[in-house]
Amino acid sequence: MTPHLLEPFSVHIDFESGLLSPDPVVLVRRLSSLAGYFLQNADTDSEVYSVHEIRVPAERDHLLSSTTIVLPGKVGDEYYMTKGHFHANRDRSEIYLTLSGEGLLVMALENGTTVTKEMRPGVVNYVPGHWAHRSVNTGSEPLVFYAVYIGDAGYDYATIAERGFPVVVVDRDGGPSVVPNPRYLAP
Ligand SMILES: [Fe+2]
Repeated sequence: MTPHLLEPFSVHIDFESGLLSPDPVVLVRRLSSLAGYFLQNADTDSEVYSVHEIRVPAERDHLLSSTTIVLPGKVGDEYYMTKGHFHANRDRSEIYLTLSGEGLLVMALENGTTVTKEMRPGVVNYVPGHWAHRSVNTGSEPLVFYAVYIGDAGYDYATIAERGFPVVVVDRDGGPSVVPNPRYLAP
């Protein structure tokens, strides 16, 4: 009995747009669904990012993967970014491969330690377990990356929603700067 036996399959990714074919699960995050994540309130409801997920069961014997397209833009001087999350199963790791655009991957431990890495086409970022991760588009084009993660990683958005990330990425004199988050609630 092999309850999770799947047929092998292939998916096409357009590296420039990040769009998948066929048949992804698509999640769109607009500014209204990111209320409280940016330091300033937004006065529009523009789209910030979308996630396009290849359909496989979210179970440990599978590898989930998706493209994320973070649009260029800012709320105040803070660049558009993803919500960011810990994995519900904290020890599950993840790999990011940037396909187009440029940005920063901000990672944080629950004790407030942070590491920030560049995202640009061809760069693989390895996110070990226990590190929350958020991607930030610091460029003028969409930031597109492909992520692969263990099927039962799960999502813990609540910890970030409550505490924020220890740092934020803001535009200072026309370029990105990683600065302490004045609203971060240390554990
Ligand atoms: Fe993740």
